[in-house]
Amino acid sequence: MARMLDALERARKEREQKLETDTAPAQPEAAAADPAPAAATPPGNGNGNTPSRAAAFHPEIDERVVGVHDLQSPVTEQIRLIRTNLESVLADYHSRSIVVTSPGVGDGKTMVSANLAGVLADDPATKVLLIDADLRGPVQHKLFGLRQTPGLADYLQGRATIEQTIQMTSLPNLHVITAGHLPPKPPVLLGSEWMQALLGELQKTYHWIVIDTPPLLAVTDATVVARECVGLILVVRMGKTPRTLIERAQGMLAEMRLPVLGCILNDFASQQRSDHYYYRYYKDKDPREADGFRA
Ligand SMILES: Nc1ncnc2c1ncn2[C@@H]1O[C@H](COP(=O)(O)OP(=O)(O)O)[C@@H](O)[C@H]1O
Ligand SMILES: [Mg+2]
Repeated sequence: MARMLDALERARKEREQKLETDTAPAQPEAAAADPAPAAATPPGNGNGNTPSRAAAFHPEIDERVVGVHDLQSPVTEQIRLIRTNLESVLADYHSRSIVVTSPGVGDGKTMVSANLAGVLADDPATKVLLIDADLRGPVQHKLFGLRQTPGLADYLQGRATIEQTIQMTSLPNLHVITAGHLPPKPPVLLGSEWMQALLGELQKTYHWIVIDTPPLLAVTDATVVARECVGLILVVRMGKTPRTLIERAQGMLAEMRLPVLGCILNDFASQQRSDHYYYRYYKDKDPREADGFRA
């Protein structure tokens, strides 16, 4: 696994070098005599901030993954707060595998997972893996400009190795496992021993594993994966997720004794402000106090 990651890293560097060579403007001979050539300025984000990693550096990543593109934005700031909260709740863990789910479709699970993974990977010492376990309507490969296959479902069916499924991104320490070919029975695969073994193996390498899943109330996929993880985050979207569904989701999680790490209120205040993607994090309780929590 470690050797495989080294190889991935080497390949990423080679790709970066190639990109630099390919995109470097040809230098006219006269330019060599120019005593002070203007420094290359990354395009700004239009809000006056100078992002330390501007979109220009990650052109293949969807601009909605603000946590990668604009480190100064309020959204990134809020996700950072979520990271801090998670770090404190999970301080004892070397590897933290977290399922991101929500009651229904469109609550923001996928955007929260992508942004959270991006912000976590801002620390170069932290190895982060994003897994698209939404084997019914995967989106992460589109957000990160990656291939959908081979991916998680292919590995779980013995059609690909771990090495073949892990993809690099332009962030050196952020890797992604996309969904793969969509299988007929996702919960069977996600609840299999293969999935357990995969997570066990990945936890040896990654400090954070963020797992995007389908809606909690529609299918069992998220709860099946959550059983193998440190905890689960529930996303609800302001003005969209009906209260009754939030209550049903909470009741279901309590009944199943799954460790809920907290709740993220997505789209908070977007009706009052022009900015989007506002997040609020509410910590439920220490997962170690939750019934059924497994260390
Ligand atoms: N806070 C937000 N502000 C604006 N648009 C959002 C916000 N959160 C999600 N969206 C948009 O809503 C749609 C559904 O979000 P997504 O994360 O795919 O939901 P889910 O994965 O829960 O189905 C996407 O088009 C996404 O860009
Ligand atoms: Mg989704």
